[in-house]
Amino acid sequence: MMTKIRRTREVNPTADKAFKIRTANMRDLPIIAELKDKLDRHHHYSGLWPPEGGRRENLRRYRQMICGKADRIFVAVCSPHEIVGYLTVSIRIRDCADRDFRRIGFIGEAFVEKTKRRQGVGRALVEAAAQFFSKRNIKQVTLRNIILNKPANRFWGRLSFRPILYTRTTSIGELTRTLHVRRPKP
Ligand SMILES: CC(C)(COP(=O)(O)OP(=O)(O)OC[C@H]1O[C@@H](n2cnc3c(N)ncnc32)[C@H](O)[C@@H]1OP(=O)(O)O)[C@@H](O)C(=O)NCCC(=O)NCCS
Repeated sequence: MMTKIRRTREVNPTADKAFKIRTANMRDLPIIAELKDKLDRHHHYSGLWPPEGGRRENLRRYRQMICGKADRIFVAVCSPHEIVGYLTVSIRIRDCADRDFRRIGFIGEAFVEKTKRRQGVGRALVEAAAQFFSKRNIKQVTLRNIILNKPANRFWGRLSFRPILYTRTTSIGELTRTLHVRRPKP
């Protein structure tokens, strides 16, 4: 079966910047997979569970995203063709009484190469995501980020994302040990 390749489209021609943002195409996927490896290594130190799948599974997922109407991958490109960052978005459907929360925007992965950080690349990627969502009449956007990732906390906070939930984890061993510790009598 032939895979339909979506035509590459300029999202935000950042004429005054050293990079531009565009929608990813199939040819970009090996580089995006490399950036995803870097993102996973970056997360490795913060106690997050190891990521699901591997490179093959990631590539399969990205291929689907490129073909899917409810997904998009945006890339930041420095001249001539160097991809220095990417961000994935999806529209998710929820069974919810409140109309505004039935179709919501989800930001999945966001990564910018170390040497290109603090130059507005991340912000421009999020701008492209915001355009994608608002054109589709999405009213609410959510994402998950690691509590210990302070730069990401500042980045998302600056972009108006408020932290709402903690995802808490433990191992069964640790939980069992903790449960068996005698509580001091009051
Ligand atoms: C988080 C990340 C995507 C931000 O990308 P970026 O291109 O550096 O972000 P920008 O340059 O657009 O920053 C926009 C604003 O966010 C804030 N910000 C970004 N990085 C920051 C940092 N390290 N410390 C403090 N504030 C920061 C600043 O307010 C910044 O504006 P300013 O530079 O004018 O002060 C990038 O640091 C990254 O890829 N980190 C590693 C992977 C990661 O943590 N991904 C997020 C997973 S949820």
